[in-house]
Order: sequence, then structure tokens, then C-alpha cells
Amino acid sequence: MCGIVGYNGKNSVTDQLLNSLELLEYRGYDSAGIATMNKKTGKIKIRKCAGRVADLRRICENDKKISTCGIGHTRWATHGGVSDTNAHPHRVGDVLLVHNGIIENYEELKDHFMLHKDLKSQTDTEVVAAVLNRLYDGDPHEAIRKAVKYLKGTFSLVIMFVDRPDVIYAIRNVSPIVAAYNENGTMLASDVVALAGTADQYIVIPEYVITELHKKKIKLFDLNGKKVEPEFLEIDWDTTRAGKGKYPFFMEKEIMEQPEALRATLDGRVVNGEIDLSVDGIPDDILKDCERICVVACGTAMHAGLVAKAVIQRNLRIHMDVEYASEFMYEDPIIDEKTLVLAISQSGETIDTLEALKYAKKKGAKSIGIINIKGSSIARESDYVMYTVAGPEIAVASTKAYTTQVLTLLLLIGRMAKVRGIFDEETEKIFMDNLLQVPEKLEEVLEKKNDIHKIARKILDAKDAFMLGRGLDYSILLEGALKLKEISYIHTEAYASGELKHGTIALITENTPVVALVTQEKIKEKELSNIREVQSRGASVVLFVREDFDLADAEYTDVLSLPVMTGEFMVFPASAALQLLAYYVSMDKGLDVDKPRNLAKVVTVE
Ligand code: F6R
Repeated sequence: MCGIVGYNGKNSVTDQLLNSLELLEYRGYDSAGIATMNKKTGKIKIRKCAGRVADLRRICENDKKISTCGIGHTRWATHGGVSDTNAHPHRVGDVLLVHNGIIENYEELKDHFMLHKDLKSQTDTEVVAAVLNRLYDGDPHEAIRKAVKYLKGTFSLVIMFVDRPDVIYAIRNVSPIVAAYNENGTMLASDVVALAGTADQYIVIPEYVITELHKKKIKLFDLNGKKVEPEFLEIDWDTTRAGKGKYPFFMEKEIMEQPEALRATLDGRVVNGEIDLSVDGIPDDILKDCERICVVACGTAMHAGLVAKAVIQRNLRIHMDVEYASEFMYEDPIIDEKTLVLAISQSGETIDTLEALKYAKKKGAKSIGIINIKGSSIARESDYVMYTVAGPEIAVASTKAYTTQVLTLLLLIGRMAKVRGIFDEETEKIFMDNLLQVPEKLEEVLEKKNDIHKIARKILDAKDAFMLGRGLDYSILLEGALKLKEISYIHTEAYASGELKHGTIALITENTPVVALVTQEKIKEKELSNIREVQSRGASVVLFVREDFDLADAEYTDVLSLPVMTGEFMVFPASAALQLLAYYVSMDKGLDVDKPRNLAKVVTVE
């Protein structure tokens, strides 16, 4: 979703802003813009357009590089269509502004301040610029302080005042802003990816703190004007990893990086053959005392929660709910101080997950965040955090974040089983052996990428596809189906195969490819028999199956055998195969694999 950048320093401001906006492209957007100011001449330039950052770059090509500071934005339209006028930055009078989030009361503000004549766009953002302009009387802090009192909703605002051409101001509520500096200047952004390569440390701007970006320093003030000491976090990502390397798309690179990411996620959490979460500071008590568990998450992260549910209920016999974060608080969930809430999120910024977590905490629940981005909003809101060590995930379709989330959850479950005395010696050994083998077993599937590519070629022209499995296989396929639909635009449904004959089997025809997944010992006969039912209706079935399962003499269009792991651990080889299938279908269809239409990597609006 929307991306924000700001720069005050001695490099070319235009280049710096455009480069940073390019780094934020992965978030998903439909228009882009920058505003720059020159301290000496007072000259202000706004360049913006619907389209890509590359289009904006072309518009800026002939601009003289004399500005000293500037702000930039990639917009994902919410209020007002995709147009040059609606793109940010917006200028009203003395105020230039970019904004992330949604101002819920913008219509009321228009009436209250009688702003109608001041506005050219249909955006809520321009209303904020107009309000600030009305309140501005030469004192930026005063105007910002007064303005935010009127705003309802979520926002990160980055502001320039025309008579202050050497300072950038920022303030936020919920929507994040991070900032950093180096010997060439100071910068801020909506996420740390835009700062990669520019600094070793960054600050997460606290909520309702007025931030000033000067050429050589960053100053923070609370709303009473008192100085706030910034808290620095390390940028510990290897920034060379942020490029695509030898791969045509980030998604392929990120699929291939999984063994390394999984090893990094295990690193330090298995000590002398036992799971040890002291690096994460998770006290055993909260794992021991909880009476129910609840996952709040969205999309892929929610699917990781479903896998955890299958494992927890089967092995630990603890009641567990997995909820769409966006539905959670409207359903009167059963939450109390004996509930452990797991908030799972790659970005740590998904607003629905954040709001669900806050709601659960208000009801007394303890919480653990399973998060990829350090210092993100959900990480800060959680009582405890386990970081997935996936590194930057740029492709919109989540791959290595998912498998590292599942692995992190299994580490947590393994520790829970230990402290509750649930595992006997033999079960613990099997669990630990499998846990440590995850990276190499997944690697074995990646080596089969050419076989998976061949299978993918056969479903390129499909309009619809089904994915069938039972139990844990069904949970894995929900994620597999999401991958295929979001990047190939083939309508794909994962279906619990036993349920098929209660209606949906009517949709199965010869032209409907079916991907079946059979990895669970206990239910494999039932799964195979459900597959025969769809085959009898003419469906061509591609079977992804654990390699030691006997298929008798049944015939399938294609069979892909998956390396053997025990029970729930089959999620890793199966998911890697499904990721590659989706990837090759999208690539062979000539689609923009990394940036599927309408989607955003970071979903910061409810
Ligand atoms: C799909 C995908 C999304 C995200 C969802 C939650 O491939 O990536 O479904 O999983 O938007 O995002 P995070 O994990 O950042 O909270």
C-alpha cells in the first residue's frame, strides 16, 4: 500500500527520493509523486502521475538537481480514483503533504473548515493539507498539534511548510514511519526497506511525536513540546539480498532462499538438541498456563495459523481458534486472561491484525507476535515476539515468510509440549529430528523445479482449478490455492475433498485441473478414494504425494513425489512444491509475478 519517503541532505534530492520510492514499489501502488524545495531559492517543485515510479522518473528527467529537501509517495488508491490529481504530494497554500492511512472524518472536516474551494482532488489527504494550511500561522508544531486533534483514523503525515525549506516534519497514528541518518543527510520512510543500504540503524517514530528532519539531525518532540529521545534499532539485513540476483523475479529468489531462511529461523533456538526460546525471552509460564490459544492474522499468515492449529489440537489437546483478523472483533470472540493470542504477520503492519491484537489485549489475553519485520507496529504491541528470520520479502506473494512462520510456530509448539510434559522421549526425538531436517527436505523439493515447471505448463489455460485434500493437507492447500489465484489469476479453490460431493463436485469437468495433496498417513486411503471420485467425472488429477505412499495401480495425469517427513512436517515439502507450481504458471502466462494486479504487500487500511 502507500509508501512514503523523505530526504534532507546533500545528495540529489530527486534521485534519492526516486530511488527510495523504487525500493517501496513492492508494497503495491498505482501512482507516484515527489515534492522538492530549495532552501536558497525557495523554489518548490511538485511532480506526480498515475502509473509507475519509472513514469515519474521520466517526468523528472529534465529537472535541475538543486533542491535541498523533499518528500515522495507511492499511492494505493482508497479515496478518489487513480489520477495525476489524486496522486500525492498535495499542496494547499503553505503546506505540502504526503499521507498513508485513512482519515475517516474527512467529509466532516471539509464542512467544518469550509474547505471546498481549496480542494482539487477527491482525496482525504488533501483535506488534511487544507486543514493544516488553515491552522498554520508560522509555527509548524502548533499547526500540527492542533490539526491532529481533529483527525479521526490512521495516518502517517510527512509535511513541508513553504517558509521552512530546510525542515521536513512528520507525525503518525498507527501507520508507521521510520527514520535514519548518515553523513549525507537524514531520511524517513514508511518502512525500513527504503532505508536499506543507507544506514546501520533506524528509529521507529513513536505515535503522536512530532519529528523534524534536519540536514544533519533528527529531532523528536511530544505534543507538549518536550524532547523525546529516539530509540535506535539495528538494520541487520544484508542489503545485497534486496536485489533479484540471478532470478527473473523476487518470488523465485525468495522460494529458493527458503532453506537458508529456515536455517536462520532455527539458529539459536535449538540448544543441545532441545528447543530453547530464551533468545526470544518467552517465559515458559505463558506456554504452560494458557487454556486456549487464538491466532489473529490475515491471508497467508492466517494459513500458517491453521497449520499450527492442526498440530496443537492433535498433540497438545489445547482448544485453538484461528480467526481472520478483519472479522475477529466483530464476532464477540471468547478471550480472557487465560487466552494466549498469536498475532502472525510478515510485515508487522497489517492493520486488521494490529487492531485484533489490541482488542484481545484489552480483554486480558497474553500475546506473542510471530513477525518478520523488527520494530514493526505488531511487534511493538505484542507482549513477546518471536521473529521469523526470513529477511526482506519483496514479492507480493508470500513464500519464505510463510514457511518460516510455520517453523516458528512449530518451535513454539515444541517448547509448549516440553514445558507441559506432553512429549515422551520417543515423540520428542521424532519431533526434533524432523524439525532439524526441515531445510534440507525443502531443498530436495526445490531440486525438482523442472518437474514442477512441466506440470505448470499443463494448467496455463485453465479458467478454474481445484485443490483437494483432507485434514492438514486441506490447510496446506488453502495456502497453495491462494498462491495460484493471486499470481496466475486462475480461479482456484481449495476444498476438503470429503466435502466435495455435497455440491461442488458439480463443477468438476474435463477442463478443470485438480491438484490433489496426499501426505498424511492416517487419512491417505480416504484421500485417494476421493480423488478417484473426481477422476470418474473426467477430471485430470495432478497428485502431490509423500514418496513412500503406495499408489497401487491408479493412474494420474502427473505425480510429484515429496520427500518423507513425519506428519505435520510434510507442510514444508508440500508448500514449496505448490509455491513453485503457482510461480511457473504465472511466469509462463507472462504475468508480472512479483506485482499482481490490485494487490499490496503491506495492507495498512482496514
Ligand atoms: C499472500 C500474502 C497475503 C499476506 C497478508 C498478511 O501471498 O502475502 O495474504 O499474508 O496480507 O500480511 P502480513 O503477513 O504482512 O500481515
